Amino acid sequence: MMNQKALIFFALFISSCCLVTTTSACPFYKTNWTVYITNQVPDNIVVHIKSTDHDLGNYTIAPTHVHSLTFCQKVVGTHFHGYFWWGSKYQSLALMDAEIIKKCRKRFAGNEYCYWLVRTDGFYLSASNQPFPYGWVKKKAWP
Ligand SMILES: *[C@@H]1O[C@H](CO)[C@@H](O)[C@H](O)[C@H]1NC(C)=O
Ligand SMILES: *[C@@H]1O[C@H](CO)[C@@H](O)[C@H](O)[C@H]1NC(C)=O
Repeated sequence: MMNQKALIFFALFISSCCLVTTTSACPFYKTNWTVYITNQVPDNIVVHIKSTDHDLGNYTIAPTHVHSLTFCQKVVGTHFHGYFWWGSKYQSLALMDAEIIKKCRKRFAGNEYCYWLVRTDGFYLSASNQPFPYGWVKKKAWP
């Protein structure tokens, strides 16, 4: 009886420890990135996001709405790809890779942020979230 109780407490301790470390912080050597995708197209758009390890599935973003994703940067090889649909239009591009990380990184500790703006003429990237067009760089057009 005592042993079983001890085992249960041990299991609870292990799960609470590991749940906390995986959900509330990145390891010190990995940056916590948050990427915001704002839809400035006057229609719903659909984005399908995939990383090298995970398929995050489809999200619909309503006009003026923001979709965000947060992840711990890998030591090497962080890559998130976005597949976008706007009605019959389709485009795909890297949302996060080594080059984009270099553009968005502001410091070398703590949380980092990167911003995407989807407009009728294409996809814009910025390290800060200023009103368009300040600081925004067009990375790709809709076809
Ligand atoms: C990462 O940063 C975001 C935005 O600041 C925050 O909400 C989130 O809790 C952080 N996640 C981790 C794993 O530190
Ligand atoms: C994601 O959405 C697109 C466009 O609406 C659709 O063609 C595709 O089949 C969807 N994929 C999944 C996995 O639901």
